[in-house]
Amino acid sequence: MTSSPPELLDSCGVRRAYDTVAEDYAAHLPDTRWEPALDLAMVDAFAAAVGNEGRVLDAGCGTGRMTRYLVERGCSVMGVDLSPGMVAVARRHHPGLVFTVGSVTDLPYPDDQFAGVMLWYSIIHTRPAGQARIFAEAARVLRPAGHLLVAFQSGQGTRDASGAYRQFGHEIELQRHLYTADELSSYIEAVGLREVCRLVRRAQGKERDDQVIMLARAL
Ligand SMILES: C[S@@+](CC[C@H](N)C(=O)[O-])C[C@H]1O[C@@H](n2cnc3c(N)ncnc32)[C@H](O)[C@@H]1O
Repeated sequence: MTSSPPELLDSCGVRRAYDTVAEDYAAHLPDTRWEPALDLAMVDAFAAAVGNEGRVLDAGCGTGRMTRYLVERGCSVMGVDLSPGMVAVARRHHPGLVFTVGSVTDLPYPDDQFAGVMLWYSIIHTRPAGQARIFAEAARVLRPAGHLLVAFQSGQGTRDASGAYRQFGHEIELQRHLYTADELSSYIEAVGLREVCRLVRRAQGKERDDQVIMLARAL
């Protein structure tokens, strides 16, 4: 009997969870109103670095709120997400934009396609064993001198992420994995990208962990 690799089993559970919560996710996080200005400053810096030099991929776009934010900053953006439910909501809420179902561990695009790739809290449900694959894929689809932006909760270990959705009546199982900024930097450098800068800020409001946003560049 053969067994599936852990990343594959994880992604089935993650897909199921986000398919279940998609409508409520969009209702409670319709845009960037909860994003602190500091975090958005990093997104703005990413958008400015990419400029109008090519397309941007919002990888793990969810219901498309960050895709829309980048479009409003002049980027030509498309989104990809593991969850067909999240993608269906994204298409409905942002009818002019292109959203595709696919995984950040196996991006459905040829090499050297994008001037920018953004992973906005979409690496967090992948275990450490799957991270190398995510960044190899990001590096593959990025053009030379393209930019990568990654956001995630900082720390070590794993947290139960189901609680936030139980208040809306969803019985899902969802875990998220914590990473340090230095760990992320190593993943990035291992695929030939270079860290440009990082924001590490303390948890605020209902956040349980510090947050990291890292900008990197292809050579
Ligand atoms: C916390 S949500 C963030 C969504 C969006 N970036 C935002 O900020 O609203 C995490 C998203 O990552 C997606 N995701 C998780 N693992 C993924 C994978 N392997 N490939 C593509 N998307 C993934 C989930 O389906 C979900 O939509």
